[in-house]
Amino acid sequence: MDTMAIIMAAGEGKRMKSEIPKVLHQTCGRPIIDWVMDAVLSFSADKPIVVVGSGADSVKAHLEGRAQFAFQERQLGTGHAAMAAAPLLDERTGHVLVVAGDMPLLKPETIEALVELAQSEEYAAVMLTAVLDDPTGYGRVLRDPLGGVRAIIEHRDATPAEREVDEVNASVYCFETGAFYEALGALSSQNDQGEYYLTDCIGYLTGKGQRVGALIASDPEECMGVNDHAQLAQASKVLRRRVIAAHMAEGVSFIDPDNTYVDHGVEIGRGTVIYPGNTLQRGTRIGRNCTILPGCRISASVIGDGARVESSVLTDSTVGDGATVGPFAHLRPGAQVGEGCRVGNFVDIKNSRVGKGSKVSHLSYVGDGVIGEDCNIGCGVVFVNYDGEKKYAAVVEDGAFVGCNANLVAPVTVGEGAYVAAGSTVTEDVPRDALAIARSRQINKEGWAGKRRMEKQKK
Ligand code: UD1
Ligand code: CA
Repeated sequence: MDTMAIIMAAGEGKRMKSEIPKVLHQTCGRPIIDWVMDAVLSFSADKPIVVVGSGADSVKAHLEGRAQFAFQERQLGTGHAAMAAAPLLDERTGHVLVVAGDMPLLKPETIEALVELAQSEEYAAVMLTAVLDDPTGYGRVLRDPLGGVRAIIEHRDATPAEREVDEVNASVYCFETGAFYEALGALSSQNDQGEYYLTDCIGYLTGKGQRVGALIASDPEECMGVNDHAQLAQASKVLRRRVIAAHMAEGVSFIDPDNTYVDHGVEIGRGTVIYPGNTLQRGTRIGRNCTILPGCRISASVIGDGARVESSVLTDSTVGDGATVGPFAHLRPGAQVGEGCRVGNFVDIKNSRVGKGSKVSHLSYVGDGVIGEDCNIGCGVVFVNYDGEKKYAAVVEDGAFVGCNANLVAPVTVGEGAYVAAGSTVTEDVPRDALAIARSRQINKEGWAGKRRMEKQKK
């Protein structure tokens, strides 16, 4: 039997106090709505119907190709959102799964159980509920004396006695399609907020003598709705824990999971050890048997096997097998550090290739450069790549040695096996195997300092 999923995502998210639509706020490396999409995807016969309204353009742009969109021009409540989606159901029969777009912790297994329950027995609707220590703000589930679901009452419309109820509505429902249409048709906006509440469908159906089932979530955490930044942080913490648990199950070691931040979709090979205080962001792939020491932010970067990175920032970069980076290195977009390289303290590399086995050990800037294999770039070398208008490339060929504090004024090439003397400012190509010395000669003025001291004493 067919089930179609509807995700309600048109709300403004007033409590977020943000210009970004609520469902596009990031949690663990991607927007809230993506987590919800993942949870419902396999239970929808066709692309899920997403109800958009506030910030519709950005939500649509984000989900383009993955969803069908229903437009809710004015946000008159969750019932009104469901009404906006209903025409897209066409002539479908079967069931409709309706989920709030602000529940990033919801798991597919839970939806599966809910859909199965809806299909197995003669229910007009089933809903997901949770028993919470603090049910404040949620709609409460009202049951009849025999324990059957009777209705949902919103927190703000509830009496003090009803507020004592600790079973809440999660905002995940599976309706039999006919019952769905009928109940939506009967909704009114007679409540504290003057909105059409989807929750009223439940009371309507039971009032008509139809059966409504409730699945109590075994893990109430899943039912959390994100309405404000405090809840967003709470949800992110849970997602982070789940993401890290999945890595640990695959053989990755975390010294302190609670102080490590790994985005959804990051890949980490087995045998790798991640120290605390690391942030591994979207698009990052780390190989096997690496050591990621404390204090790195690694974003959209690829790190080979057996590499070691410490207290460094890497964005859109690659690091080869067995290389070491840091402490305090900055690999900016386009940095490609080869196999077995050493990139050390306070080195900044941007849009440059460092060949296999080469060393850039301390205090250097390599911008738009190409460094061959087995080169040594001494302390404080600067690739002078910018003349105020354009950027140019300096090339250091295989086996070359660039002495400390040299400037390579690009475009320039240091040939294979050549040496550049320390302190040189190289403006012309250095031939293969040559030594370039490009600095003024030293003059020693014998006795000069002693004389100066004597003069000072006389005064
Ligand atoms: C809702 C439920 C409440 C439940 C809680 C669980 C209603 C009336 N209340 O309350 O019983 O305990 O979720 O988290 O349903 N939306 C629209 N269009 C609208 C209004 C909302 O698309 O006009 C969307 C929102 O974007 C959001 C979802 O529906 O993703 C839920 O809306 P929200 O305002 O967060 O409802 P709650 O007050 O949390
Ligand atoms: Ca909510």
